[in-house]
Amino acid sequence: MIQQTKWSPASWREKVAKHIPSDYPDLEALGAVEQRLYKRPPLVVASEIENLKAELAKVSLGDGFLLQGGDCAESFHEFEADRIIRYFRLFLQMAVVFTFAGGKHVVKLGRVAGQFAKPRSAPLETIDGVTLPSYRGDNINGMEFTALARLPDPNRLLQAYDQSASTMNLLRALATGGYADLAYINDWNLDFVKKQGGASKEYLKLCHHIEESLEFIQSLSNGAGTIDTKTVSFFTSHEALLLGYEQALTRKDSLFGSGGFYSTSAHMLWIGDRTRGLDDAHIEYCRGIANPIGLKCGPTLGADELLALIDKLNPSNEAGKLVLIARFGSDKIAAHLPAMVRKVTQAGRNVVWSSDPMHGNTVLSSSGYKTRPFSRVLSEVTDFMDIVRAEGAYPGGIHLEMTGDNVTECTGGAIDVTDEGLGANYATHCDPRLNGSQSLELAFKIAKKMKAGRDEIRMAAAGL
Ligand code: PEP
Ligand code: CO
Repeated sequence: MIQQTKWSPASWREKVAKHIPSDYPDLEALGAVEQRLYKRPPLVVASEIENLKAELAKVSLGDGFLLQGGDCAESFHEFEADRIIRYFRLFLQMAVVFTFAGGKHVVKLGRVAGQFAKPRSAPLETIDGVTLPSYRGDNINGMEFTALARLPDPNRLLQAYDQSASTMNLLRALATGGYADLAYINDWNLDFVKKQGGASKEYLKLCHHIEESLEFIQSLSNGAGTIDTKTVSFFTSHEALLLGYEQALTRKDSLFGSGGFYSTSAHMLWIGDRTRGLDDAHIEYCRGIANPIGLKCGPTLGADELLALIDKLNPSNEAGKLVLIARFGSDKIAAHLPAMVRKVTQAGRNVVWSSDPMHGNTVLSSSGYKTRPFSRVLSEVTDFMDIVRAEGAYPGGIHLEMTGDNVTECTGGAIDVTDEGLGANYATHCDPRLNGSQSLELAFKIAKKMKAGRDEIRMAAAGL
């Protein structure tokens, strides 16, 4: 085993920290905000984090499926209850598709209630000859193209915390307060499901089957109901980018009995593709917390380097601790993923394999918008499932940028968004998201493939 140096919530400060702003005009003010955050209540608690880890441990054994998704970047401007409700509804609908059409328990992990900070490919942006620092997420600076807005402001961290807390509060109420009761499945339907064909029609048919099945279960249990169809477990996650914020919300567990350190800003944190240097700050911070950790794996990551990262982040090979999120692009996945899965599988490391078919498939449309073609997104997930299975491992999840809003950011899908149509409702604060209809369509296509894979395994086991 690798000998690790001593870890503390602050030990990342001794390391190279990429993509963390160093141009705060007033560092004292930043320190004062971090002190205030340190005293704020945790947004999640250790026992919930351990519950997520237990659910992920099952997925790593092939039992269950991880659905992780939400905005590329949450924003202060778009913060409203109705958006959160539409997002949650879409999430439940997709989870239902995976549960009933795919036959798997679904781990529900939002990319929400804290997903603000963005790593940017260029530190500066030039418009009409004027050059300013890039927008880096609402918890750092403003999107408006003025020198003042682009200056990092530490008070934005407090606003992001407050927005995360009230988003979390509503999500908790929706998950356990009656809204997620399967009996109301038809009430979750977003307008697009009622109006449109394609995946929507298929979804309404599924709802009908579920209603019938529920009636059946209820008649059997005589209303006493030992099966919980009324509430769901909903977890949150975001990229662990701003380590000062994460450090301020790190707590040593005193209630749960494990005595470990937990990031209490979300149940799961992930490490971005640009900040996963083995000896750098982000890996240093994440190696010491007990939360499940996601690791984005892109084309520049080698299989040996991946193994070293796994051993640093999860030296005890704990199941449910690590989610490897493959994000290569539909044109690159076949060249990179097989060797990675082989290496990790042969080394006997416990991981959940998940597919992010968004970040390797961003293209510039002819109309000038950054977009992602639905066909490329689908192709990457499909190849991901085939490759992981072919290497004898289990394709256990997806990671999507999606919204319940009727946006036009990704092209294609059954209700086709064209290049020319992108401008109709292009609202994202960073990368293009799948809209409700595209997300549901993708869920059905993946669920069908999951089911086909499951049937194949059953047949093989029966010697057929
Ligand atoms: C993201 O998930 O928004 C992101 C920036 O992804 P990646 O690190 O994979 O590029
Ligand atoms: Co993104």
